[in-house]
Amino acid sequence: MARRRPIMAANWKMNKLVGEAREYVEQLLPRIEGAGGADIAVFVPFTALGEVARLTEGTPVVAGAQNFYYEDSGAFTGEVSAPMLLDVGAAAVIVGHSERREIFGETDEMVARKAARVVSAGLLPVVCVGETKEERDSGGMWEKVSRQVRAVFEYLGDETSGEPIVFAYEPVWAIGTGDTATPEDAQDATSKIRGLLGELRGEDFAGAVRILYGGSVKPGNVGEIMAQEDVDGGLVGGASLEAESFAELVNAAANVESG
Ligand code: PGA
Repeated sequence: MARRRPIMAANWKMNKLVGEAREYVEQLLPRIEGAGGADIAVFVPFTALGEVARLTEGTPVVAGAQNFYYEDSGAFTGEVSAPMLLDVGAAAVIVGHSERREIFGETDEMVARKAARVVSAGLLPVVCVGETKEERDSGGMWEKVSRQVRAVFEYLGDETSGEPIVFAYEPVWAIGTGDTATPEDAQDATSKIRGLLGELRGEDFAGAVRILYGGSVKPGNVGEIMAQEDVDGGLVGGASLEAESFAELVNAAANVESG
C-alpha cells in the first residue's frame, strides 16, 4: 500500500498570546522550507486563530482550532461553531482530545457529532482516541479505543471517503508525561484502528485515512515512531511550543515520504 502523505501537527493547548503566536509563525516558516513532503497544521487557541490563519495564508502551514461546537449558531454561550472557524481562516480542528473528554466531560456521542460536523463543513478533523493507564494495565486498551472509533461512525455520512478524516491515537498516559508509547505500541494501536476502519467502511477508506500518534513526541523519538507502517504523523503538545523543535519534527515527517 502506498504510504499516505504524512501530517505533523502542533497542539499548543492553552498557551501563547497573539504576539507570541506571531513570533512563532515568523520563526517556523523559514525553518520548514524543505518540508514539501508533509502536511503541517498548527492548532492554536481561538484568540490567536485569526492571526495565525492570516500569517500562514499561502504557506504550507494550516491553522486549526482545538475545539468547537457542532451547532452552527444560537444560544450556546461560550461556544464557537464550524462556520465561525471557517470565517477566520481555519482549515482544521482537533476533536475529542482526551483533555476535552476528561476535564470538560465530552462524551463519545458529542465527539462523534463534532467529527461529522467538521467533515460536512469541509474542515479537516483530527479525532483523538486513546486509553488511560488503568485501561492499558488491565488489558482494556482496545476495548476503549475501538469503542471511541466506532462511535464516530454513528454520525458520519456513508458517502464520506477516508481522505477528509484524520485520527490521532493518543494514549492518555503518554500525554505530557515524557512517557512515550514504544514504536511497537504505536504501531499495534494504529494498525488495529486501521483494521477496524476497514471492517466499518472497507479497505479503500481505511487505506486513505491518516492516523497520527500523539503523546510525548519529540525530536529524539519522532524518527522511530514515524517509521511505523500505520503511523502517518504526529500530534504534538509540549515539543511543538518552540518553533525550532516543531520545525525539526516537521522536517522529520517530510523526510519519511521521500525516504
Ligand atoms: P504531548 O501532548 O506531546 O505534550 O504529550 C500531545 C497532545 O496532547 O496532543
